[in-house]
Amino acid sequence: EDAERAAHFQARIDADDRIEPNDWMPAAYRKTLTRQISQHAHSEIVGMLPEGNWITRAPTLRRKAALLAKVQDECGHGLYLYAAAETLGSSREELVDLMLSGKAKYSSIFNYPTPTWADIGAIGWLVDGAAIMNQIPLCRCSYGPYARAMIRVCKEESFHQRQGYEIMLTLARGTEEQKAMAQNALDRWWWPCLMMFGPPDQLSQHSDQSTQWKIKRFSNDDLRQKFIDATVPQAHYLGLTIPDADLKWNEASGHWDYGAIDWNEFKQVLSGNGPCNRDRIAARRKAHEEGAWVREAAAAYSEKQQARRTA
Ligand code: 3HC
Repeated sequence: EDAERAAHFQARIDADDRIEPNDWMPAAYRKTLTRQISQHAHSEIVGMLPEGNWITRAPTLRRKAALLAKVQDECGHGLYLYAAAETLGSSREELVDLMLSGKAKYSSIFNYPTPTWADIGAIGWLVDGAAIMNQIPLCRCSYGPYARAMIRVCKEESFHQRQGYEIMLTLARGTEEQKAMAQNALDRWWWPCLMMFGPPDQLSQHSDQSTQWKIKRFSNDDLRQKFIDATVPQAHYLGLTIPDADLKWNEASGHWDYGAIDWNEFKQVLSGNGPCNRDRIAARRKAHEEGAWVREAAAAYSEKQQARRTA
């Protein structure tokens, strides 16, 4: 593609223009956004599995209703994001097939198990808390459809985070066993949540280009630090201990210093060897097969509608 159009495109980005589906864009811009938006969508859909596990086991009707609403929201987030990805030219079918075949990623965080009810609290508080940190800047992403999808998603995420935090507060103020369950969930979710933000900046292969194209507004490490700074006081308020012996307030920098993240665990999870990777993909493949008739029926119905309109 000619350098002039690429230069004009970058000038639009520098001027904070919104890029829309019918605008000219570099093939690499289209490719990296299709990659990120579709993987974001896969994360929402796979993310329904760990929480869905507790819908029939929620301790009260109120908790069940909130969890049901949250899981339905995540499905809707997947819908907005697949729709945004389709504006770049890929079909939903091919994007979903890439995930089912293991070629496309979804967030590492959803490869961990949810053995107790406190995990539902920890996911809402920590995972959705981390997601909010990452998704608010995406509301200002240079690609219009993605930014607009994020505005709706962020409104719903804040409810997700609040209901999770309330579950943790109830447990932390409950019996000794309940507080121990909340602490155990924090112990298991803290470090995987820090990995959600992606590899350290110096190992991030997309950050430079994504930052230049104003897809990524803050670096992986910046958002990770923002999340830690916001979450440590919340853990203290809950009377829970963050499982990091090196966590220390740094008066000079105004941030919490934290211990080393186990990037080998991250690599393991990304290569399919996390605790639940196989279960999650198997569950998605099963749902996809069992849902084939719904897709066929919907397609047949729309063809009939189309035929009626043109008859
Ligand atoms: N899990 C899985 N893969 C990850 C990852 C994670 N936590 N973090 C990074 N990666 C992958 C990247 O996708 C990339 O691989 P690829 O080239 O095959 O796509 C590779 O690791 C290198 O990482 P980079 O930092 O170079 O990649 P990015 O610039 O894309 O940054 C990101 C990674 C910050 C996750 C970015 O893609 C992003 O902001 N994505 C949109 C938000 C998102 O997907 N959040 C995931 C959670 S969704 C969620 O929480 C739903 C909520 O409702 C609960």
